[in-house]
Amino acid sequence: MDRKNLRVNGERLWSRLMELAQIGATPKGGVCRLTLSDEDRLGRELFARWCREAGMTVEVDAMGNMFARRPGRKSGPAVMSGSHLDSQPTGGKFDGALGVLAALEVVDTLNDAGIETEYPIEIVNWTNEEGARFAPAMMSSGVYAGVFKTEDIYATTDHKGCRFGDELERIGYKGDLPVGGRDWKASFELHIEQGPILEAENLPVGVVTGVQGIRWFTVTITGDEVHAGPTPMDKRRDPVRGLHQMLALCYEATAAEGEWARFTVGEINALPGSRNTVPGSVRFTIDLRHPEDAALDRLENAYRAAAEDAARVHNVDIVVDRIWNSPPVAFPEELIASVANAAETCGFKTRRLVSGAGHDSVYVSRVCPTTMIFVTSKDGISHNEAEYSSPEACEAGANVLLHAMLEQAGVAN
Ligand code: GLV
Ligand code: MN
Ligand code: MN
Repeated sequence: MDRKNLRVNGERLWSRLMELAQIGATPKGGVCRLTLSDEDRLGRELFARWCREAGMTVEVDAMGNMFARRPGRKSGPAVMSGSHLDSQPTGGKFDGALGVLAALEVVDTLNDAGIETEYPIEIVNWTNEEGARFAPAMMSSGVYAGVFKTEDIYATTDHKGCRFGDELERIGYKGDLPVGGRDWKASFELHIEQGPILEAENLPVGVVTGVQGIRWFTVTITGDEVHAGPTPMDKRRDPVRGLHQMLALCYEATAAEGEWARFTVGEINALPGSRNTVPGSVRFTIDLRHPEDAALDRLENAYRAAAEDAARVHNVDIVVDRIWNSPPVAFPEELIASVANAAETCGFKTRRLVSGAGHDSVYVSRVCPTTMIFVTSKDGISHNEAEYSSPEACEAGANVLLHAMLEQAGVAN
C-alpha cells in the first residue's frame, strides 16, 4: 500500500474517547477528572493499559508525567506527541483526552499496518495541564522545561489545603524518573480548537502557528468585617465596593485594547462568607490573555492602576499578585509546514490559526521543536460539559497527526 493512503481507525479512537469519558462522567454529558483525583488515577490506569496492549512500555517521572514508548529501528531521538487527561471541574470529553488518545491511535495504526519507524515514538500524558485544582496551568510540562521547580510545585495547595506532592503520592503516580531531559526530535499535539474559527469556515482541521500569552493574578481586597444592619454605608471599609470599581475599570481597559484582549474573573471568594456581615476580604482571580506581550504589559499596568484607584476611593487595601506569566509562543515554521503537508496528504483544506487556550506544547516548545493541530469544536464551546467535536473531526485530526509524525519518524521497513 502507498503509505500516503494509510489512515487511522476512527471508530477505535471514538470508542476509546467515549470509554475514557465514563471516568468522571457528569450528569450533563461532560467530565470532571480533576488532576490527582481518584478519577485522574483511573483515567491514567486505563490509558496505561491501552498503551501496554499496544506493545508500549510506560514510565512515570517525579511529576507524574507518563511516557509510553514504541521503539524505532534507531534508539533515538523519539517523535513525541502528548496532551493531558485531566479536566476542568465541568469539562468536556475532548479537551486533552483527544490528543493523548489520538497519539495512541497513531501507534495502533502503525501496529496494524506492520510499520516499523526509523525513530521511536513517545506518547506523553502531562500532569495538571488545566490548573483548575492546583495553579498555574501546564504545571508539569513547565517543570519538564525547567520553568518551575519540582519542590515548589509539590508545595502548592488546592482549595482544601491538600498538597500537590501528597496527592501525587496518594494516587500512586510519584514516579522514579527524573523530570526532563528526554531525547525528542519533534513534538506534535492534537487538540480541539476550543474556539469558533474552524467551524465558521467549515474546516475539519487547522494548522496552529503559536499560542497567545497568558498572565494569571490573584487579587486580595481587604477592609473591615462589620455588621450589615447597624453600620452606616459611609462608615464601612467594604472590599466589595473596591471589587465593583476595580472590575468596572478592568473591563473598560480590556475593551480599549480591541478584539484580541481577554479578561476573565473565574473565582471570587468573600470572607468570612456570611450574608449579614460585610466581608473582611475578597479574593478573586484574573486570567488575562493576548497574542502580544506589549498589549499584556499595557493591560497589566491598567489593572494595577484600577486597583490603586479603587483602593483610594473606597479606603480598602488591594494587593495584586501575578502568579503566572506564560509569554506568547511562535512554533517553528518547519514543523508548521510539516503539519500543513500532512493535511494536504489527507486531502483536507486547512487554515493557520493562533491558539487562544494554553497548552503543554507552550513549555515543550522550549526543549524541542513543537507544533499543534486543531480539530473543529462545535459552536466553539469548551471548558463546558457541552464541548463536542464530531467523530469525523477527531478522525481527521488523528490522520493529520499520523502523517505529520510519520514524516518525522521515517519508515524503516
Ligand atoms: C488551559 O486550558 C487554559 O488555556 O487555561
Ligand atoms: Mn487542553
Ligand atoms: Mn482546558
